Amino acid sequence: MTKSTGLNKIKTAVFISGKGSNLKNLIKFSKFKKYPFTVNLIFSNTNKAKGLKYSKKYKIEKKIIGYDKTIRTDKRILRILNQKEIKLICLAGFMKILSKNFIKKFKGKIINIHPSLLPKYKGLNTHIRAIRNKEKFAGCTVHYVTSKLDSGKIILQKKVEISKKDDHYSLAKKVLKKEHLIYPAAIKKILN
Ligand code: GRF
Repeated sequence: MTKSTGLNKIKTAVFISGKGSNLKNLIKFSKFKKYPFTVNLIFSNTNKAKGLKYSKKYKIEKKIIGYDKTIRTDKRILRILNQKEIKLICLAGFMKILSKNFIKKFKGKIINIHPSLLPKYKGLNTHIRAIRNKEKFAGCTVHYVTSKLDSGKIILQKKVEISKKDDHYSLAKKVLKKEHLIYPAAIKKILN
């Protein structure tokens, strides 16, 4: 794929709390001409997020602010996003629930990736629950963020089969591979 200069692309911020494999993958895709976004800010609510290492590796600014849902913190984060001209927030393993106020202020411009076939299995431990319920399929969903948890409009979804041998670790691995396919594709879909 052709590499891009990053000019005329939509500036995004990726919010993480953990490993950051989706973040790394989004950074990779953002460098291709066909994908109309750049990752300009890595935001984390904790300095323990392993994914913060990609800030140094890819020379992308990072901000770490403990997220407490107060208006004051919301304002602080919104100020940073405005300064950096961020037009889209991509939640990728961000383990905090954004306040209603924050979502309202950034309305229609926050998306999330969730490791289940929404509307099934909102919330945590999706793979354990899907296996326990003897589901035949699991998957992942990219959706808009609204003030109702994991309930906004679906942008893209991808299924994977749950085999008899799967435990929640192997299933999480399989699903994560699909996440890495649909997240950049979903961003491309909404920005084009
Ligand atoms: C992914 O499974 C994502 O769907 C969920 O949290 C996990 C984050 O993984 N919201 P990573 O930090 O991107 O590796």
